Amino acid sequence: MAYIDDATINEIRRKHPIKEIVERYVSLTKKGEDYWGLCPFHPDNNASMSVSTKLDMFQCFACHKAGNIFNFIAGMENINYGDAIRLLAKEDGYNIGNVSNYVNPHIKDYEIMNLAIKFYQNNINSTLGNNAIKYLENRKIDRDTIKKFEIGLSIARQPITKFLENKYDINDLIDLGLSNTNETDVFSDRIMIPIHDLNGNPIGFGGRIYQTKDGSKYINTKSTKIFDKSNILYNYHRAHNKLSKDNSIIIMEGYFDVIRASTVGINNCVAPMGTALTTKQIRTLKKITNNIILCFDGDEAGKTATERAIPLLENENINIKIIRLEEKDPDEFIIKRGKEAFINKVNNPMSVMDFKMQTLKENKNLNDTKDISKYIDELIKELIKEKDEITIELTLKQLEKKFNVNYETLKERYDKYNEITKKNTKTSKQEVKIKEKSLLNKYGQATNNLLYYMAVAPSIIDKSEKKVIMILDDKKRRLFNELIYYYHKYNNIIIADFVTYLNTKTDVADTFMEILNLNLKKEYTEEEIEDYIKCINEEYQNKRIEKLNIELSTEKDPMKQAKISMEISKLKGVTMK
Ligand code: UTP
Ligand code: MN
Repeated sequence: MAYIDDATINEIRRKHPIKEIVERYVSLTKKGEDYWGLCPFHPDNNASMSVSTKLDMFQCFACHKAGNIFNFIAGMENINYGDAIRLLAKEDGYNIGNVSNYVNPHIKDYEIMNLAIKFYQNNINSTLGNNAIKYLENRKIDRDTIKKFEIGLSIARQPITKFLENKYDINDLIDLGLSNTNETDVFSDRIMIPIHDLNGNPIGFGGRIYQTKDGSKYINTKSTKIFDKSNILYNYHRAHNKLSKDNSIIIMEGYFDVIRASTVGINNCVAPMGTALTTKQIRTLKKITNNIILCFDGDEAGKTATERAIPLLENENINIKIIRLEEKDPDEFIIKRGKEAFINKVNNPMSVMDFKMQTLKENKNLNDTKDISKYIDELIKELIKEKDEITIELTLKQLEKKFNVNYETLKERYDKYNEITKKNTKTSKQEVKIKEKSLLNKYGQATNNLLYYMAVAPSIIDKSEKKVIMILDDKKRRLFNELIYYYHKYNNIIIADFVTYLNTKTDVADTFMEILNLNLKKEYTEEEIEDYIKCINEEYQNKRIEKLNIELSTEKDPMKQAKISMEISKLKGVTMK
């Protein structure tokens, strides 16, 4: 595979100032030295993204996404870094053919998983698949749907391990969760539902039992290097291309709920696959929409799952709507009550407040004064979280009318709770700030500052190199070394190019972005730099001495003891005679 060298990449980068690239997608306003605009990587009302023409980088102060033009394009086009380079290279007329300097390290893994999908599909279409097809037809899943969702079948008599073993290393198959360590299949006699990552690469399977009732209903691929369940949502790659006109995503519990919904033309559904919704998943969804409809199972568990998901979604400022179903799950609802009934539900979802009014009512006798009082109290507590003032007022008025309680009395109670909550959040915010500060102690700050100024003012590297600098933190030490290496290679550090260079060293790149995000003052003095170095080395010494003291206390060999003592003294700056 051909390769675009760094020099060419940097040449392409220089042809496109960051402002030009960002303005293809976002409008910018000049404020001071930099340009500012709405960040496209999270729902933003405050123009949180700054674009620095000086550094040729963008940076969002709210969601902390940052980088050069290639990072920006990759994020906007939902492609990887290498493809972003290729996109611009093509635009500029470079003759690069079908190549990319970025080789996805998992190409072979996807190839194997794709083969697995084909293998399982072949099975279900063979005569050995008749019963599986019958099972699906019984569930009213037709051939087109089977094909669309690439549903297949694992068969005990025809192990996939045998089939793939000829071509691939067994360890790869074990790593991908297709084979067990004893070289048997993970999935046997199960209906196989392929799971894809956010870009549509095949990464795992959900396998449903269909002939017996023994064993768990589903087996899912274990966590692998390509399958991170906490970040994946079933059907995301299809749903995100098919957002409905009001741009919402519907979250359901199970595979077959999502599949069923698509049979009635509702294609914007995803499922977290048997685990509670995670913040990672919510942030993934947030990239494509700010409107989420929760449509969990109709039972008690589904209600609890809804209640648990609400605060997580509220934390990410998502507009939440809720559907509650009078059947077991969306699958059964659609089968029993039909397409129109379900579409009606989707078009008229509940607000969070309506949902809470409904659930708080349960298990209460609203003819009983005590229960009414409790109900009103609980509801007002919930109302504190509501931000929309009209909703607040309307809800209080509704209560006034329904229970014949004076509006003023209700409002007083509301104001009282509101006051208490405000006080509490204030103190907890202060606490967090103090905690953050103490977490990043003097040493941490010194390290960050030194690395920051090495990057923006590389002449510091010349000076600091003459000194011994010992950085404890592994990633920061690697960044330190990369800065020095890069500086000597190019005699300069252009930050946006350095980001390209770091791109193959992901965790170091992340550390670098974090440090750039600190947005330190532009000026520095020599003394400050001296101080940072001193502080870093002191910390190293202290930590090293601490460690040696522990070693010393457990060491029994007197020769070794002497050696350790000597090193401690050396570190303390005392020479032994
Ligand atoms: P449900 O138990 O609600 O299953 O689990 P379901 O979707 O109604 O399954 P069908 O319709 O009987 O086939 C919801 C989801 O939880 C995960 C699956 O992703 C499932 O779709 N799950 C469930 C498991 O991972 N393992 C299990 O044993 C059960
Ligand atoms: Mn079901």
